[in-house]
This record gives sequence, C-alpha cells and structure tokens, in this order.
Amino acid sequence: MVAEIIDGKKLSHELKMKMKEEVNQLKKTGVTPHLTVILVGDNPASKSYVKGKEKACEETGISSDLIELNETITEDELLAQIVKLNNDKSVHGILVQLPLPNHIEEQKVIEIISPEKDVDGFHPVNIGRMMTGQDTFLPCTPHGIIKMLKSKNISIEGKHAVVLGRSNIVGKPVGQLLLNENATVTYCHSRTPNLKEYTKNADILVVALGKAHFVDENHIKEGAVVIDVGINRTEDGSLTGDVNFDKVKEKASYITPVPRGVGPMTITMLLSNTIKAVKGLTSGE
Ligand code: GUN
Repeated sequence: MVAEIIDGKKLSHELKMKMKEEVNQLKKTGVTPHLTVILVGDNPASKSYVKGKEKACEETGISSDLIELNETITEDELLAQIVKLNNDKSVHGILVQLPLPNHIEEQKVIEIISPEKDVDGFHPVNIGRMMTGQDTFLPCTPHGIIKMLKSKNISIEGKHAVVLGRSNIVGKPVGQLLLNENATVTYCHSRTPNLKEYTKNADILVVALGKAHFVDENHIKEGAVVIDVGINRTEDGSLTGDVNFDKVKEKASYITPVPRGVGPMTITMLLSNTIKAVKGLTSGE
C-alpha cells in the first residue's frame, strides 16, 4: 500500500481563505480580531515561529503586534505586561511564545493569561473545558491534527489511537481530543518498554517525540494512519519529522509530511482561536 499524503499546507490555505471571509464580516461590524504575541529573548526557532504567525495573521486580515522583551526581564515585569493586555479591550488573543528563560516560571505565565484570551488553549481552565468536552480554545497542534484527519474523512470513532509523546502542548491534549472523538487511546513515552507492541496495534499513530526518523516501517501495521508532529533540523539545515517518511509511506494508508504537514495547521488553528476570541466561547465550531 502506498499512503495518501495529507497536505497540511493546502488544507491550511483553504481554511485561511474561509477565515479571511469571516474576518471581513467581523470588520463590517467594526471589529478587527487582534492577536498580541510576546517573545522573550532571541531564541532563533521562536523568532522564526513568531514570524510565521505574523504572516498568517496578515493573510487573513487579522491584526497582530509583537512585543519583544529582553531575556533579562523579570517574571514580575512579564506578568504585569500580561495583566495590561488582559485589561486591553482591543486585544482579543494573547500568546506568549514558549520556551521562556529559566528564571521565569512558565506555568505562572500561562495561568495569568485570561482564559478568554488564551488562544493557545494552555490555561488550566481551558484544559479542563477540553477534558469535559465543553466549548473552549483547543490547543492548536492537536486541533490541527483532528482537522487533518477529518479533512480526509478518516473515521476516529472506535479506532485505536496510539500517541507517542506526553507533552502538555501536543501529546496529552491530542490523546484527549482523540478520546473526545471516541477513539480508544494509548499513550506511550520515553519510559514505555516494548514500544513496537503498542505502535504495531495503532490504527492511528501520532508521533510527537522530537527524535528524527524514530518511527520506521517496523513500528506500524499495514494501513495505519501516521501523523508526524516532529520538527527536527538536519545537518544541512532542512526540516525533517519523527517518522521515516519514505519507508513508512509504503505501508501506511495516510501520512503527513514534514514540512507541509502538521506545522502549517498549528498556526492556522491559532488564527481560528483568535477569531473565536472575538465571538466568545459559546460560538463557532
Ligand atoms: N512553542 C512551541 N510551540 C508553541 C505553541 O504552540 N505556543 C506557544 N505559545 N509556544 C510554543
């Protein structure tokens, strides 16, 4: 079997064009969705992600601004800056790019963002809402993955979904969203012995480990759907996933590439959350 590729870039473009329409409608009512991004320090990867977010906002007519802070900023100063944005009615969404410098406690920062402006979906209130199946800002990468599966009419209900990785940003929430869609979910991580015993039983395998080409054709069963969340830099500077694409595509039914896979969908779902922040939490999808 040769897998069909789920093109995240193409799907992302289609969704952005729909959002542009939605933003135009909002503008007619006098409201322009506005996202404020905070970047602390000058981590090159973070800078590049933030640029991608700005560009995507422009494409859809969402306004955005970037607050760049020196990495010597104190935790209190950063928290105070966020409180100001919480109180600013012209700001609908707030995103603090992670990781933060070691002297700043990330969880404190996440928790001070108003849940109504938490377009990352990282605030414990929003995580709780997601877990109990209520309307909320869903974390962007996991939400993008569900959208990719649905775009190909891949059924999730009753399927065995195996998630490799248990980060707060991807692994844990994607498992929860798959469970909300009635999958049977298994989480595997660095301490899981005999990993292949689990991965070979996966109908849907989500790989978010951060290890280049970790998953090969011996990890999966024939016809599995393989979602690659990895973004690893190779020696020549190009990007590659956690999955050995060339090998796995010969055995899977669907596969996401890197680049042009999950990455573009993450930013697109951030835009979707920013529009949702304007409309309020009970509206939208
Ligand atoms: N750093 C890596 N991914 C993300 C993300 O989705 N949101 C934020 N805020 N920081 C990140």
